[in-house]
Amino acid sequence: QMGLKTTLLGKKIHYFEEVTSTNNIAKEIAASEEEGTLVIAEVQKGGRGRMGREWVSPHGGIWMSVILKPGIPLRHASRLTLIAGLAVANVIRNMGLDASIKWPNDVRINGKKVCGILTEAKAEVDRVDYVVVGIGINVNMDLKDIPESIRAGSTTLKVELGRHIKRVSFLQDLLFELEQQYINFKIRPFSHILNEWLALSDTIGKEVKVTTPSRIIEGKAIGITPDGALVIKKADDTKEEIIAGRCIYARP
Ligand code: BTN
Repeated sequence: QMGLKTTLLGKKIHYFEEVTSTNNIAKEIAASEEEGTLVIAEVQKGGRGRMGREWVSPHGGIWMSVILKPGIPLRHASRLTLIAGLAVANVIRNMGLDASIKWPNDVRINGKKVCGILTEAKAEVDRVDYVVVGIGINVNMDLKDIPESIRAGSTTLKVELGRHIKRVSFLQDLLFELEQQYINFKIRPFSHILNEWLALSDTIGKEVKVTTPSRIIEGKAIGITPDGALVIKKADDTKEEIIAGRCIYARP
């Protein structure tokens, strides 16, 4: 109905003017939906970010959640976050902007965040029943639409390109790219995708400080594991793998 170039993603779309969170809705309906179903809203009143943070989602952005049923072990669910980040970064790069990925899931332009991804999975024993990949992209907002507390570190596609973006065609391109990545994910060894991700990541090689709910780890980011964990080499030369956390560059 909107000229999609995909066969799976967006085959069914639930569109809302306003929701609390598209991830919440996607999780509620996931059990009875086929994979590829999309939940998308103009505005989120209770948008959620990673680690319990709020995700401010006014008019002008793309706030959406994709329901996937890859039948993978739960520990591999974070791979879908990497895939989504890759897809978003590729589409933004195709617009001529220099997008990079900051581990684990921020897509940034010139060091400023333009997209965040929140992946939530439900598993029975160790197989996922479904994975909801929530993607939030600052598209046609002005900087004043972004809360002051995070404005300095954020940007929007409109600000970067200096023009209004056609959201429907952007979404068509994004769903196409995401579907290609997802198909690749199913048929190719994950190392191929990791290499593509590494090429767009600006985290590896940097001195970082990663905050998890329980502690802070500082050192040099030297790699990523197949499950998407960041490998950090600390000052005492020991290595540590961190599966989830907030990453800050010591020298941005
Ligand atoms: C982050 O960087 O902390 C992740 C942000 C994820 C935001 C998206 S917007 C669509 C979906 N619904 C939500 O409530 N969150 C995700």
